[in-house]
Amino acid sequence: MLKDDLEKIYDYAESRSTPENEILHELNRKTNLEVAIPQMISGHLQGAFLKFMSQMLQPKLVLEIGTYTSYSAICMAQGLAEGGKVITIDNNKYLVDIQEEYIERAGFKEQIALHLNDASNVIPTITDPIDLVFIDADKINYGLYFDLVIDKVRKGGIIIADNVLYDGEVLSPETASKNGKSLNQFNKKIQDDPRVENMLLPLRDGLMLMRKM
Ligand SMILES: C[S@@+](CC[C@H](N)C(=O)[O-])C[C@H]1O[C@@H](n2cnc3c(N)ncnc32)[C@H](O)[C@@H]1O
Repeated sequence: MLKDDLEKIYDYAESRSTPENEILHELNRKTNLEVAIPQMISGHLQGAFLKFMSQMLQPKLVLEIGTYTSYSAICMAQGLAEGGKVITIDNNKYLVDIQEEYIERAGFKEQIALHLNDASNVIPTITDPIDLVFIDADKINYGLYFDLVIDKVRKGGIIIADNVLYDGEVLSPETASKNGKSLNQFNKKIQDDPRVENMLLPLRDGLMLMRKM
């Protein structure tokens, strides 16, 4: 299928999915108009998927690695169990204002804990069992993030990693960029790890779904 056709399919899928709520819609628009590298945002369809996963799991603790403008954190917060929380980490200080504004307006100030830090500094400090992890930061370190979280995820917990197709680069690792090569290695590492059952879902730029055995 051609890229144009695929975009039409995604437009159609969005038009036949429950619309984003008002705050998420505004945040999506603002990110696309005013924030650098807006293609990093999960957006309507992937955000709805994350919300569905969270609603099914009803997690007490969600860990997100890579907050960006907080779109995906807000999506996952919508499925939290009573008293549950989202820990989300980003090392870009220029995003803090927009993150704080939209998390508060979405009504999740008490549930979403923002950490302005490098992910590898924060993850080792988490002691409670994690129900859902979304890995969506620097692609080169996905393997490291998986290694840091796997023992903290409860049995049956879910880990999701974004961009694992990397615009198709993983199909030709010899000519791929550094990120493409790294994601190809990550996909193989996950495939070979008996601690997880996995499925590569070709939604958007590819989501690796992992369930802790
Ligand atoms: C793809 S964006 C996240 C998108 C967001 N999860 C969403 O779905 O809307 C990746 C984010 O990871 C952050 N990041 C990159 N390297 C990081 C690191 N080592 N530690 C923490 N955050 C990092 C970047 O600043 C960027 O905001």
